[in-house]
Amino acid sequence: MGVVADAEHATITGRRGASGSPDVRFLIDEECTLAADASTLKIVGGTPLRGEVTVRGAKNLVPKAMVAALLGSTPSRLRNVPDVLDVDVVSSLLELHRVSIDRTDGEVTMDPGSVTSAEPSRLNVLAGSSRIPILMCGPLLHRLGKAFIPDLGGCRIGDRPIDFHLDALRQMGATVDKEPEGLYLSAPEGGLRGTKIELNFPSVGATEQVLLSAVLANGITELRNAAVEPEIMDLISVLQKMGALITVHSNRVLRIEGVDKLYGYDHTAIPDRLEAASWACAALATKGDITVLGAEQPSMLTFLNVFRKVGGQFEVNDGGDGKPRSIRFWHPGGALSAMALETDVAPGFQTDWQQPLVVALSQADGLSIVHETVYENRLGFTDALNKMGAHIQVYRECLGGSTCRFNQSGYLHSAVISGPAKLHGAELVIPDLRGGFSYLIAALAAEGESTVHGLELIYRGYEGFSAKLRGLGANFTAA
Ligand code: EPZ
Repeated sequence: MGVVADAEHATITGRRGASGSPDVRFLIDEECTLAADASTLKIVGGTPLRGEVTVRGAKNLVPKAMVAALLGSTPSRLRNVPDVLDVDVVSSLLELHRVSIDRTDGEVTMDPGSVTSAEPSRLNVLAGSSRIPILMCGPLLHRLGKAFIPDLGGCRIGDRPIDFHLDALRQMGATVDKEPEGLYLSAPEGGLRGTKIELNFPSVGATEQVLLSAVLANGITELRNAAVEPEIMDLISVLQKMGALITVHSNRVLRIEGVDKLYGYDHTAIPDRLEAASWACAALATKGDITVLGAEQPSMLTFLNVFRKVGGQFEVNDGGDGKPRSIRFWHPGGALSAMALETDVAPGFQTDWQQPLVVALSQADGLSIVHETVYENRLGFTDALNKMGAHIQVYRECLGGSTCRFNQSGYLHSAVISGPAKLHGAELVIPDLRGGFSYLIAALAAEGESTVHGLELIYRGYEGFSAKLRGLGANFTAA
């Protein structure tokens, strides 16, 4: 399987699935000459990206749907599964709990028939590589009455506490013991209990936590101020297929009636609207034309409005002509328009769309404002863009819109971008997943050569991105 853990570190070896050749991820293709441990690219910018790319299932849904399989008394099958590192990590986490996993290209079948506890020391080897372990709490408490959670990973874009998760589990009756090596949780006598929970902020992770914990709990759980991202709705579809009773009320209220038993599902994951938007921003910043196969309009309405306001053009194909669903994104020529933008929870402008779009806004005429209201520390990546010639200033104040929970907090969470800026090549180190993709876009839009280090972070969420870049005419080599 993808991740083999030993005492010191987790390495990615071997590969499953249709292609059969080992390490597909790192042996992108001979033509790209990307060696197994290529984590650095030399990119020569200035070529408009043109052509087609395909996006598969959402990176922020697929691992959660895989965790949900733990709740079933029969095997589950998930389709449209992307080939990204986060899927490898959750596969290994499930295997450490004796879930048998069978992966083929684009699909994974999971049999939770003989789930057992995993050795904390073995789980700790995967510590820091993902935030998924926290979401295994509910299912493991239902199956085993106990759960161990190692230190969590995920992008360094804020403190990313888990207090909402632990408060919700405690309200459902779980006990949480913090030890140096991690968290030990145990279920109350008779199992988790349904209850009323209100989130301080519509957290995606905490909403998923309550969903995965309440579906088999005793009684009814009412969750207020819940997240309603498309990935949440898709997880609710998965759980409903398993036999769960979940009602979505207006005003962010979810009502979950606990049931005694759930069964395996067969589900096709929604497409990755975050990857699709990243390619759209790449088309805009490089003055290119990219058709994203698999992209769907309903989960991208807010992004498409902003894309059009900035001056981009798009065309939706709903698949009516028998062709795969797709959205074509292109730069119509001429100047792009600056704008004021505020990130928000769904249905607002998604925080994960922010970083790739900032690169395009650095090319727009005038002053743009970006107010990041979801993460307190998601503008650090602009330093490197300024090194490339962009003009971006960051502020602690809430600019361009309403005041947010970071007001007066001292966090640099607003940016003023004045454009158009002529970008030039530079040496870049990738800070996080979306910041990393925005660096690739900036290097492709810049004049001259850039060296981009730390590609491992991009493998976490962008499937086959270098083969896709090659297909779009990008000029790069492994360093
Ligand atoms: C999910 O993270 C996504 N990750 C993130 O995408 C995405 O940015 C985020 O939701 C918001 O949409 C995955 O699905 C794997 P949150 P999550 O709980 O669940 C605070 C990407 O690039 N908070 O909604 O961790 C938290 O600090 C990634 O694809 C608490 O304070 O996000 C943050 O400021 C990055 N206490 C805010 O809420 C808690 O217990 C939103 O976090 C939980 C969260």
